[in-house]
Amino acid sequence: MTHAKVQIPVEDLTREQAARELKRLAKEIAHHDALYYQQDDPAITDADYDALRARNVAIEARFPKLILPNSPSRRVGAQPSAGFGEVAHRLPMLSLGNAFDDEDVAEFLARIRRFLGLGIEAALDIVAEAKIDGLSLSLRYEAGKLVQAGTRGDGAKGENVTANVMTVKDLPLRLQGRDWPKVVEVRGEVFMRRADFFDLNTRQEAAGAKAFANPRNAAAGSLRQLDARVTESRPLHFMAYHWGEVSETIGAGIWEIRRRLASWGFRVNEPARLCQGLDEMLGFYRQIMAERAELPHDIDGVVYKVDDLALQDRLGFVSRAPRWAIAHKFPAERAQTVLKAIEIQVGRTGALTPVARLEPITVGGVVVSNATLHNEDEIARKDVRIGDTVVVQRAGDVIPQVVEAVPGKRPKNSEPYEFPIMCPVCGSHAVREPGEAVRRCTGGLICAAQAVERLKHFVSRDAFDIEGMGSKHILAFWEDGLVKSPADIFRLKASDIENRDGWGAKSAQNLIDSIADRRTITLDRLIYALGVRLVGQATAKLLARNYGTLEILMETMAAAADPESAACADLLSIEGIGPGAAAEIVGFFTESRNLEILEDLTRVLIVEAASAPRDTGSPVAGKTVVFTGTLETVTRSEAKARAETLGAKVAGSVSKKTDYVVAGTDAGSKARKAAELGVTILSEEEWLTLAGHAG
Ligand code: IVH
Repeated sequence: MTHAKVQIPVEDLTREQAARELKRLAKEIAHHDALYYQQDDPAITDADYDALRARNVAIEARFPKLILPNSPSRRVGAQPSAGFGEVAHRLPMLSLGNAFDDEDVAEFLARIRRFLGLGIEAALDIVAEAKIDGLSLSLRYEAGKLVQAGTRGDGAKGENVTANVMTVKDLPLRLQGRDWPKVVEVRGEVFMRRADFFDLNTRQEAAGAKAFANPRNAAAGSLRQLDARVTESRPLHFMAYHWGEVSETIGAGIWEIRRRLASWGFRVNEPARLCQGLDEMLGFYRQIMAERAELPHDIDGVVYKVDDLALQDRLGFVSRAPRWAIAHKFPAERAQTVLKAIEIQVGRTGALTPVARLEPITVGGVVVSNATLHNEDEIARKDVRIGDTVVVQRAGDVIPQVVEAVPGKRPKNSEPYEFPIMCPVCGSHAVREPGEAVRRCTGGLICAAQAVERLKHFVSRDAFDIEGMGSKHILAFWEDGLVKSPADIFRLKASDIENRDGWGAKSAQNLIDSIADRRTITLDRLIYALGVRLVGQATAKLLARNYGTLEILMETMAAAADPESAACADLLSIEGIGPGAAAEIVGFFTESRNLEILEDLTRVLIVEAASAPRDTGSPVAGKTVVFTGTLETVTRSEAKARAETLGAKVAGSVSKKTDYVVAGTDAGSKARKAAELGVTILSEEEWLTLAGHAG
């Protein structure tokens, strides 16, 4: 080996010799990195490897001008970075829907076949891969060089962790081979192996530092270090499974692209299999579950993905997850412990939620001391009592749950649990509406718990996303009367905050600045922030898109209080808003206290109107379309998705506002109603001519 050869001492090297040496060292270290990190098969001892790196550093110190762009030392973010900047993802980083049993997987396949109009016999290749329990990253390569790395964040923007990622050894700083596009974003998971995690925790404890709860947290904590040198000292790994922006196509299907990713120097997600049909998919799942403990890293399920990218394109997305992929989760891990107490928490909508306080216990590697008991009926059904030994289960990131009481271990004299009928926070009556499982506090905003929870929701990440305004601050501001309603947040002054415990002039000003940053808000975020029951992000977006401005929304909802009104019919015709949500929305916008809060907010905020339906240049952009009857060339879901992509609004029922009704065969009442109202009725063929054939 080269390192056995007699070496010229660093201080005697000429400039030319130093340049040659640096090149040689870069190559040699990269070679050993690949053996160690990608093939798990090192050819030299750690000490020899360290000596190579040390020599490289010493030569660079003497000849700083000679440092190569691909120098091994560039993997050390020598400069501690000052906080993380943001990375905007040009293509969103999505999450996955979950399947918990075989039936969910069967339904996933059936849904795809229905959507695409594929018969049961038609072939459908599915890639199955282990689902790694780490954190996802997007790596941007330009001209083959790693130029940026971002965490998923909220999917649209994440943290810029480029300096830290450059220290992760088993991902290429330069893509290998030649056949890569000019721009390619490789996505995958950063993770830590179980053995490395235990070692790290031992070292942390020895150093008096906090131990990590599980390998996933350890990986996340290690990546989000402000000092990249700390990240470098942590044994992180990366597996590629997806991509973002690409300047040219990189293949026709996932299976093929996996090979390309590997050829560029990535570890691809293993184990994996190309499956046909449900049985092969489930077979793979069971095999992986059985072999799970032997894998060096934690996995929490299997991901199934439609292989063919053209089909993926047609399938598209719902909300934040693709229709063409799903995560099949492994069943939850369980353990037994003692239930010490039952505490009742009061949520944003007044719901009383029972929480089990437990004797701390490790379940699947995480210490659990609280778990949910769901609701009153569940406690009664399981007859869970204080003092019982209970079975606790954890499934992935989901909150741990109490499954059942262990019958033989019940203490004598225990009594069935009595659920409170008064709110433990404000003392108001807590009632159950007929047919509802939850008991709710009737105190409304006089209830501290509800008021504070609503404020917490208001500032949360998917709502106003006010940085630095944590739950404990909201609670403290509320208790001192500084913030009683959402608009109060925007009236805060630095002088209100800076003399409080834990605050200084600088941190107070930072908070005021981050509040000021959010004074302009999009309509959908505002709607979501209001915390109307049954109105999540997707519904908030639908409302914003349909009504455009806050004024129109408020006016129309007031009118919709009359169930006979056109406004009410219109609300109900929005595809994706059911009668339950509609009732909550109208109820919210007709309550005088809520209207006061909204009016107050309009005084301190600038609400951006939802952009007019995207002008996609298509003649159907901005039009409201209703599909009815059976279509011949595409399924109804696909037609609908395509119409939306072109900027049309798809409604579920016909009203005066409908522009087109597309009638397939056997179109019934909707076509009749369209004729009555004088709405244009199109045949499938006419629609396709108008919308342009797919592609
Ligand atoms: S495919 C459109 N494949 O799990 C998203 N994701 O719970 C494509 N994950 O967001 C993702 N292993 O961060 C895919 N083999 C795998 C994965 C995987 C882990 C992560 C990923 C995703 C999350 C969803």
